[in-house]
Amino acid sequence: MPEQYRWGVNKLSEALDIPVKNGLSSVLLFGVIDDEKKKDDTGSSADTDISPVIKAIQKLRTLYPNLLIICDLCLCAYTSHGHCGIVNADYTMNNSSSITRLGEVAVSFAKAGAHVIAPSDMMDGRIGAIKEALRANGYGSKVAVMSYAAKFASCYYGPFRDAAHSGMSFGDRSLYQLPPGSRSLALRAVERDIEEGADFVMVKPGGPYLDICRDVVNNSKVPVAVYQVSGEYAMLWHAAAANAFDLKRAVMESLVSFRRAGVTIIISYFAPKVLGWLASEN
Ligand code: PBG
Ligand code: ZN
Repeated sequence: MPEQYRWGVNKLSEALDIPVKNGLSSVLLFGVIDDEKKKDDTGSSADTDISPVIKAIQKLRTLYPNLLIICDLCLCAYTSHGHCGIVNADYTMNNSSSITRLGEVAVSFAKAGAHVIAPSDMMDGRIGAIKEALRANGYGSKVAVMSYAAKFASCYYGPFRDAAHSGMSFGDRSLYQLPPGSRSLALRAVERDIEEGADFVMVKPGGPYLDICRDVVNNSKVPVAVYQVSGEYAMLWHAAAANAFDLKRAVMESLVSFRRAGVTIIISYFAPKVLGWLASEN
């Protein structure tokens, strides 16, 4: 991930002052735990008082009162085995304890001041469980849920797993993420999440799944987001570095394509760069 950094909570203004000045209105937070000893079976480090995301939310609320704070919610950066939920002794996924734990972490993020919770695990029933936990704690109409609903089991997440130390010690994520060839499963997952109360849905990765973006836009009544993931970022960056094309033109074309596919929310590692380009044009 050239030119991408894992920022300390004490360095947030260094990372964000300029993008915010250039018009950045929203961020998506991911926590990284460097010390493997702090990881356990249930991902306890996701929401202790000193967990990086909790601290970052509080800091961002004071630094930038108008910034919309979205938190990625998943256990894989915090579990010792690296899977996105809690696993049984035989290494199968324990769905009910996983979604209960996700609800708990969602409430901790809400208490810290997050505006939107974005569960990225794709576990069955998680949207309903998170919504219920938020409601039970008085955040039902205060904190929104953005579901990674159409999330494919993709090799394009490789650079992120490396950077976030969220790789798996056994197995893979194809048990809970969608097979890349499946269109109807993606649409069913979106429908299910909206029924469970998702306020936004997301398609991920972006570029290779533009057909899914259009399908989801045409079939859902909630705003649709697309996530241009780490592998897409790396691909564009390295191709431009090798003089295959001009980075700015390639990135802008990728973003225009997302808009052509109908999505209204774009999540991209290029956001600070794009805002800088736009600012220097004006
Ligand atoms: C965690 C999560 C991942 C990404 C976002 N949230 C990794 C994964 O599912 O393996 C991917 C982000 C990226 O590639 O930029 N569940
Ligand atoms: Zn995960």
